[in-house]
Amino acid sequence: MKVAGKHTRSIWVEADGVTVGVIDQTVLPHRFATIRLETLDDAARAIVSMQVRGAPLIGATAAYGICLALRADASDESLERAYAVLRATRPTAINLKWALDEMMAAVRNRPREERVAAAYRRAAEICDEDVAINQAIGGHGLALIEKIAVTKNPRERVNVLTHCNAGWLATVDVGTALAPVYAAHDAGIPLHVWVDETRPRNQGASLTAWELGQHGVPHTVIPDNTGGHLMQHGEVDIAIVGTDRVAANGDVANKIGTYLKALAAKDNNVPFYVALPSPTIDFTVKDGVADIPIEQRSGDEVATMSGKTSDSRIETVRIVPDGSAVANYGFDVTPARLVTGLITERGVVAPSREALAKAFPERSDAAE
Ligand code: MRU
Repeated sequence: MKVAGKHTRSIWVEADGVTVGVIDQTVLPHRFATIRLETLDDAARAIVSMQVRGAPLIGATAAYGICLALRADASDESLERAYAVLRATRPTAINLKWALDEMMAAVRNRPREERVAAAYRRAAEICDEDVAINQAIGGHGLALIEKIAVTKNPRERVNVLTHCNAGWLATVDVGTALAPVYAAHDAGIPLHVWVDETRPRNQGASLTAWELGQHGVPHTVIPDNTGGHLMQHGEVDIAIVGTDRVAANGDVANKIGTYLKALAAKDNNVPFYVALPSPTIDFTVKDGVADIPIEQRSGDEVATMSGKTSDSRIETVRIVPDGSAVANYGFDVTPARLVTGLITERGVVAPSREALAKAFPERSDAAE
């Protein structure tokens, strides 16, 4: 997608052919800065600190983390260690494990001298596949938005609500939940996005709003607790969110607060869609609510807030009394019964065990 009019992916190999560039998402929207990853530890740190985040981008960064580790040492021990270090960075997004397994399959049985080149090749393919998948998701989601648009008068906007950031910053390019939004906007459909701020890290307010703005998509940032009110008053035509892991039964893990939006959508007959690339499906988890691991992060993310002061300094302030306990659950799981459909690269799939297995038999069979 575009940054200041220039096409940019969220991850790339630098001109030296080995080090890896990423956008530092912790300083957006106030500053656009890139970082160069040179080692396995750089890649792991970027994921843990959330300089890179979003399930598909975490996977792509981990893939390049394997490349960087093998560059330093192409032995079996180094490969195993890199897998373990990267696997431990974040627990909920299954794309991380998927990408690491893909990398292992690409290099493990090769002689040492071939491993580095094979790893860079597979990491690049993972990135290109992500972009192609997201373009397909955009096409299938566009059809849903078009159906809503034809029910409106031509100047009326289609109102989409989204949570967190499942745009191009969360993927290699294009995005998942925002792919249909960009496709509809580019097709000339009048459209407006309600952007949940997404406390505590504010990925909606800082990242989704920024990338929609860069692409010229009309949007409004709302506090997280506003969506229900808007739905009651007919101000939301469709909710589209991303996901970090979809269980075999169609339950969906996504950023904390997604479940509440799905409940409100159900109560107000607002269609609630989840967009995902197939590497986000975890057929080994049979029941998402019971068994998807939920990341718990530092309480500091809840107790403090960062932002730009009127004289353009970035400052962090505390908003919770000293001594109050805080809890920081990173994700929640929306039960399949609240999900209208899963927008995948193979079309819109019902959130059920049968439909998922039918749409992705090769993945489902491999998990048996
Ligand atoms: O904690 P984050 O910012 O990595 O969480 C991201 C999300 O919850 C996204 O909705 C999800 O990864 C889907 S990204 C296409």
